[in-house]
Amino acid sequence: MLKPPQFSKEVKPIIEWMDNYMKNIESYPVRSQSKPREIFDSIPDKMPEQSESMQSIISDLDEKIIPGITHWQHPNFYAYFPCSSSVESIFAEMVMATMGVQGMLWETSPAAAELEEKMLDWLKVAMNLPSTWKGVIQDSASSSTLVAILTAREVKTNFEANKKGVPNNLRIYCSDQVHSSIEKGAKIAGIGSDNVVKIKTNDQMAIIPAELEKAINDDLAHGYVPCCVVGAFGTTGTMGMDPVKAVGEICKKFDIWYHVDAAYAGTALLLPEYHWMAEGMELADSYVFNPHKWMFTNFDCSCYYVKDTEVLKKTFEIMPEYLKTNTTEEINNYRDWGIPLGRRFRSLKLWFVMRSYGLEGMQGKLRNDIALNTDFVNKLKARNDFEIIVKPMFNITCFRYKPQGFDNIEELNQLNKAIKDHINDSGKAYITHTMIDDKYTLRFLPSATYIEKRHVDDFYELLVTTILVVH
Ligand SMILES: Cc1ncc(COP(=O)(O)O)c(C=O)c1O
Repeated sequence: MLKPPQFSKEVKPIIEWMDNYMKNIESYPVRSQSKPREIFDSIPDKMPEQSESMQSIISDLDEKIIPGITHWQHPNFYAYFPCSSSVESIFAEMVMATMGVQGMLWETSPAAAELEEKMLDWLKVAMNLPSTWKGVIQDSASSSTLVAILTAREVKTNFEANKKGVPNNLRIYCSDQVHSSIEKGAKIAGIGSDNVVKIKTNDQMAIIPAELEKAINDDLAHGYVPCCVVGAFGTTGTMGMDPVKAVGEICKKFDIWYHVDAAYAGTALLLPEYHWMAEGMELADSYVFNPHKWMFTNFDCSCYYVKDTEVLKKTFEIMPEYLKTNTTEEINNYRDWGIPLGRRFRSLKLWFVMRSYGLEGMQGKLRNDIALNTDFVNKLKARNDFEIIVKPMFNITCFRYKPQGFDNIEELNQLNKAIKDHINDSGKAYITHTMIDDKYTLRFLPSATYIEKRHVDDFYELLVTTILVVH
């Protein structure tokens, strides 16, 4: 058992461990090669009766835990969307953990509430988001979208659903490419997954506005109540971009809550050259993007913006006696801006990261990732045995290996799956896949905070040599 006076001595091996981890990260297999239950079985069935030393805990960390870690910060992690980190963000997490603040109310740490408001304002300005929006940090994009759906539900039912229960005719619309969190949100909100209407997308995986309008009209004709549209600003599979303005205009026409899910791609709005993509964003009622994806900020940190904070608070507010304080209207009690009562001091991470990088530093990093991806795309295009399945957007490439004369879709799918598995089993890199029109499509996304050109060059070599092995 440790006490604060022992901190400075005991922290040294921990800091050394963290330092070594970062320095040696490339020596680990990117995707854990551990077998199911291996880690579980290696850990005793009961907690120790007696205190154990930090030394033995750290030694077990290396022996028992590290083999079961997939190294998300490895430069050759190209899978999913990233879950980023940075030295600055790690420092902030350490400071946050030291203070152990729980910022449910303004009074329980005014700095946590006021820094959060300021950081979300900084981002709003830097990203050219509508100036009237106000932001709050949620734990994840899934939670942010659930908050949006619940607020939309309350607005549409004149705040009756919160009291009396949810009518069974509310409808949510989104493209057939959106993240599963929309369906999950509909289930949790009591709207029901059967009431999520999936709209067709075009060949760039963007929603077709005319199809959306048609679905809304059909529903109205059948007695349904259109409640919420979730637009995708960067779909998970391929970074499809729904047209913000066209969808927003439909929402206004039918008086429907418009939520934009920019979980990953929202960070790109730090780059002025992409601001045109957000044209019409002022039509949105709510918006989410995750700094924990592409903005070098440790999980969790999801920025949720709303146009009308009053309806947000009205949806979530609670006032048991023990939470009443003497504070005034001027401050934000963020417990009423989302689902949990307790809240971490996440804005400290944004403060550390944004001040240490500066806007220019962040922009440089994002442009570098996009350039690395372009480089990779050019290498694929220089050959005649790769197919780029959708136009690359930002730093994602969706592609497959398709040698000349090899046209059987099943065989091509198996071949590309074999390529992916071989790469991931090698431990040298980690990629994932998506299905596009029944095509098994490989996703490549260079974004690790400390990635360099050599990593992408090495990945390309690995890809080419893997093909020689599996084909
Ligand atoms: C477009 C999109 N929305 C939402 C999410 C869910 O994010 P979170 O893990 O923060 O809930 C993801 C996850 O990758 C995503 O890609």
